[in-house]
Amino acid sequence: MTLSELEILNHIQKTQNITKEELKVLLYTNDSIVTEELQKKAQQTAQQIYGNKIYIRGLIEFTNYCKNNCYYCGIRCANTKADRYRLSLEQILSCCETGWNLGFRTFVLQGGEDPYFTDEKVCQIVREIKERYPDCAVTLSIGEKSEESYQAYFDAGADRYLLRHETADEAHYRKLHPEQMSLSHRKNCLKILKKIGYQTGCGFMVGSPGQTIDTLYEDLMFIKELNPEMVGIGPFIPHQDTPFANEPAGTLDMTLRLLAIIRLIHPHVLLPATTALGTIDPKGREKGVQAGGNVVMPNLSPVNVRDKYKLYDNKICTGDEAAECKNCMSARMKSIGYEVVTDRGDYKA
Ligand code: 5AD
Ligand code: FES
Repeated sequence: MTLSELEILNHIQKTQNITKEELKVLLYTNDSIVTEELQKKAQQTAQQIYGNKIYIRGLIEFTNYCKNNCYYCGIRCANTKADRYRLSLEQILSCCETGWNLGFRTFVLQGGEDPYFTDEKVCQIVREIKERYPDCAVTLSIGEKSEESYQAYFDAGADRYLLRHETADEAHYRKLHPEQMSLSHRKNCLKILKKIGYQTGCGFMVGSPGQTIDTLYEDLMFIKELNPEMVGIGPFIPHQDTPFANEPAGTLDMTLRLLAIIRLIHPHVLLPATTALGTIDPKGREKGVQAGGNVVMPNLSPVNVRDKYKLYDNKICTGDEAAECKNCMSARMKSIGYEVVTDRGDYKA
């Protein structure tokens, strides 16, 4: 490691900011001492705020119908091979019951943009969950909606909202999405979510087609500007029935570097080691935590629909019951000195 590389790491940690030149060095260096030091600093930063505790979120993938047609995504509307499903209110509540008994205190309702789930239906689901489990947080991840809709879900009791921005670069956004979608609309949704009072999450895929150091730098600056409570990043993984079927996947190495950088420039963030990271490497989620992650999101969806919620190929955990995933995750975290806790796991300001 050269003196200037060490200086870069210290400078990022001290200023909680990064220049494009510094980003270039950290993403391209072949010196494993530098990348190890980067991850060590990020891990220490997370530990200073969150200790050795890892927050778990129970992910309920309640619909794979989607009206959008994003080029990267396996449940895009043009994918006629996707076997579509929706969970009923009763099925969703039964997932929550299983999850609550296993110690989950956050439920993440994720789905495609499915017009079947009207605001009224979404609000009913949120209300029923909050009524039965008032000590739990409800996170929604159901895409772009109007301010009125976001406000209605919030008033029904939703606490958090995940909406990855996917890329903060206009031209890159165009490469990933059909023309009906726009970056400005997405950014505006995130602004509204913050304004309403949600704990808000943005994020992006690492190694998505067309991503460059410049687009990544814009992603990092967007995170600084939005000041989100959560950031979700994971590798892009091609799905065979999408236009990006033959594009290369993002790498473990790049994802770990970016997780660490995000922890350093935005220290308090709730940062998951994602399923996609666990998909490209058998120890991906453990490595993600060792690079500054502090959240994992095991699946609570019924096993009979698991393999249908396929955003990308080879997704892990599609055959495992919720209890198996929870136990597996606890053991994985224990193996690296961390403890999965029964806690809502709110943002620590
Ligand atoms: N590979 C990795 N992540 C994907 N997502 C969608 N498709 C893929 C893919 N092929 C991510 C997007 C989306 C989140 C729910 O999943 O970033 O916001
Ligand atoms: Fe699902 Fe390991 S976390 S089987």
